[in-house]
Amino acid sequence: MALLEVESVVRSYGGVRAVDDVSVQIDAGEWVAVIGPNGAGKSTLFNLLGGQVKPNSGTVRLAGRNINRLEPHARYGLGVARSFQISSLFPDLTVREHLTLACREKHRWNLARTWRGDRELQARVDEMLDLWGLDRDRDHALPALLSYGEQRRLELALAVASKPRLLLLDEPNVGLTAAECDDLLARLRALGPDPAVVFVAHDMDMVLGWATRILVMHQGGLLADGPPEEIANNPFVEEVYLGATGTTTA
Ligand SMILES: Nc1ncnc2c1ncn2[C@@H]1O[C@H](COP(=O)(O)OP(=O)(O)OP(=O)(O)O)[C@@H](O)[C@H]1O
Ligand SMILES: [Mg+2]
Repeated sequence: MALLEVESVVRSYGGVRAVDDVSVQIDAGEWVAVIGPNGAGKSTLFNLLGGQVKPNSGTVRLAGRNINRLEPHARYGLGVARSFQISSLFPDLTVREHLTLACREKHRWNLARTWRGDRELQARVDEMLDLWGLDRDRDHALPALLSYGEQRRLELALAVASKPRLLLLDEPNVGLTAAECDDLLARLRALGPDPAVVFVAHDMDMVLGWATRILVMHQGGLLADGPPEEIANNPFVEEVYLGATGTTTA
């Protein structure tokens, strides 16, 4: 059984079929890029997986379980984590407070034991700070005092704090240099081989560098689905996708 099974999913807005009868299966450990021109339906598909939007018809299953009706927080509890393109950090919470909240879910049973529980929780936060290259000495800084790269790393750390089985990343490279993007990839790979990572990206260097498989969306539908070398040489994809990059915002 695939980790994620999307079956004939449709989501319309008025007369627009933002996602039009998409079926796809994704296994644990896959790194799947979702590409396509502006308005192709990439974000809507992500919202359907994360639970921010519900399908008009069709089914989304995680490890065989129908999760159509589950809200984002319930999906998070089952291992679906998501980062957003627009910063989702709270301006009044420190770096440590952000991570404490994110790590808390997994340690809830420990919190009942107060002091010991808190110590274990803070040890996990320290571990996350180190893993994501965030300075322990500056853990009381508010997000505004972090560099842009540090903010992105904190957001990713929050997304993976739950040890997700399915990680959804919406344009994780936006605003980063190529070196910072490579650094992010190395940190994500350190999560191990198990999580499936699905990401939206417009940068083809990044897509070809990260993905083991590429989904191409066009007008709500799935235009192509295959390994990077196959997609890169697909003339139809080139015409529809690369031909439209002039209007695409990175
Ligand atoms: N909340 C909404 N209300 C109305 N129309 C919407 C809504 N969300 C998406 N759409 C429409 O659905 C289509 C797909 O949009 P979507 O945002 O999924 O595209 P996208 O592939 O993410 O594009 P981009 O690359 O520009 O981010 C578009 O025509 C868009 O206008
Ligand atoms: Mg989008």
